[in-house]
Amino acid sequence: MQRNLKFFLSAFSLGLLVAAGGAGLSSADEGRGDGKASGSAIEGRRVFLANNCYGCHGGRVGGGMCPEFRSTKPDIDAIEEAVRKGTETGMPRFPNLTRVDTQNLAAYFQSLRTSAEPTFTHWWEPMPSQ
Ligand code: HEC
Repeated sequence: MQRNLKFFLSAFSLGLLVAAGGAGLSSADEGRGDGKASGSAIEGRRVFLANNCYGCHGGRVGGGMCPEFRSTKPDIDAIEEAVRKGTETGMPRFPNLTRVDTQNLAAYFQSLRTSAEPTFTHWWEPMPSQ
């Protein structure tokens, strides 16, 4: 009985921790309110990795065979244009991306070369461990 209670309590507090961690992530995203970069850099990096943008634009968006965005930082309009239409010179279309995805991408590109730049690679984890 004692042991069961202990197990229950630790499982319960683990649940609380996870909930608090998740809340921490989203409140950081909401605190921006400047209207311009309404997206989340963390979610934008997730979109960038999940859709293999890094294959052409580089793991840290430093280019390679394609444009780098670390210094040019395309805005939301340029991103919308590129992912909706693609280009004849090698940029594929990404019809699956939503408006929220492109807002998050814009926030991610804005964060490049700042202390807020997320650099994780495990985009599939809720709280990326690396
Ligand atoms: C197959 C390679 C490839 C992939 C994958 C790719 N891109 Fe591109 N992208 C390019 C190339 C090449 C250009 C330059 C095209 C041009 O200038 O005509 C480009 C251009 C762009 C531009 C326009 C830059 C500007 O200055 O206007 C944006 C924004 C962009 N890509 C974002 C993305 C995002 C976001 C993803 C993932 C969802 C992605 N790209 C995936 C090759 C790629």
